[in-house]
Amino acid sequence: MKKRVAVLISGRGSNMMALIEAAKAQDYPAEIALVVSNRPEALGLARARAEGIATAVVDHMVFGKDRQAFERALDAELQKNRIALVCLAGFMRLLTPWFVNRWSGRMLNIHPALLPQFKGLDTHRRALAAGVKEHGATVHFVSVEMDDGPIIAQQAVPVLPGDTEASLAARVLEVEHRLYPQALRMVAAGQIRPA
Ligand code: GAR
Repeated sequence: MKKRVAVLISGRGSNMMALIEAAKAQDYPAEIALVVSNRPEALGLARARAEGIATAVVDHMVFGKDRQAFERALDAELQKNRIALVCLAGFMRLLTPWFVNRWSGRMLNIHPALLPQFKGLDTHRRALAAGVKEHGATVHFVSVEMDDGPIIAQQAVPVLPGDTEASLAARVLEVEHRLYPQALRMVAAGQIRPA
């Protein structure tokens, strides 16, 4: 039985599309059963709908400062759709320990850096400023600390002379689109569990 996966997005959803594409393979151990956005205008929603995938919007603005109320609504959506695994894919909300613990070992995130380097935002700009020779992407289980938690897969790219934030981001994104489907495959097949 394929694992039912929800992909959580906030924006364009290119990693979401990579997961949707990969999950079309017959032998892929997961199916993308739901896409949820916290932003009604996220471009990825239309892309998911065009693929015939169920979508939902849980708009965090509606809940004001009550992060748990937002997360209860999100959780209800996941339960309703009998979701087994959650993939954060450019989902730009910090989650509280309540939600993280509820999905512990069943929630993955992709981060555009070689963790534990460059947690947080603007990773490509910071990598260039730091003068690192290698940058990359990481898929990890989500834990209570931001951009932390057991690493599932990681891949490096070179930082090249003359790189800009945009050129480096594009090189990393290509890697992300391969890495996330591989990582989800391993987790859905039960080959990797959080420590
Ligand atoms: C991706 O590069 C992802 O790694 C990053 O946002 C982008 C989303 O693009 N995520 C984070 O920075 C999370 N901290 P996408 O919507 O095209 O997948």
